[in-house]
Amino acid sequence: MIRLDDLVQLLRSRGESRYGEDVTLLQHSLQAATHAEDASAGDSLVVAALFHDLGHALEEEERLTGLPALQLGHDVQGERLLEGLFGPEVSRPVGLHVLAKRYRCATEPEYRDALSAESTRSLEVQGGPLPPAEWATFEGDPYFERALLLRTFDDAAKEPGATPRPLEHFLELAARLIDAR
Ligand SMILES: [Fe+2]
Repeated sequence: MIRLDDLVQLLRSRGESRYGEDVTLLQHSLQAATHAEDASAGDSLVVAALFHDLGHALEEEERLTGLPALQLGHDVQGERLLEGLFGPEVSRPVGLHVLAKRYRCATEPEYRDALSAESTRSLEVQGGPLPPAEWATFEGDPYFERALLLRTFDDAAKEPGATPRPLEHFLELAARLIDAR
């Protein structure tokens, strides 16, 4: 079974990759978690924000080490990494955070217009705006609201000059969450 240390090592070792944005993956993750905490989103969503792009780190690991790529989206890869350790409160919003982007792009034109260049580029790879026929299923998901919230923290976490709280702070929180299960 995966341990917290494994996730941290993956984030640390591949966290310096740029993945197309102006901040590193680690910076982006810390900024997202800080936004979640500042919004009093609850510990599960703070940890989800911290690890929401762990799937990108895994993709980088696969690319650099010659591991066979799993060919899943980074959202699904992240969910799989997190579900055993934290349960659905953390893993489901992560698994839905790309769907949340596709939903908001379909339902809020101003949201789509405000996406970063990289997020606009990846939207096409991710399937584009969610077709109306798929809205109701997503809206009925028990983690719908939390996925949208996570998306908000994600989108706001691309500021080159930001000073988020340190990784250690969030790891204490993550460890407490695991202990409480
Ligand atoms: Fe992200």
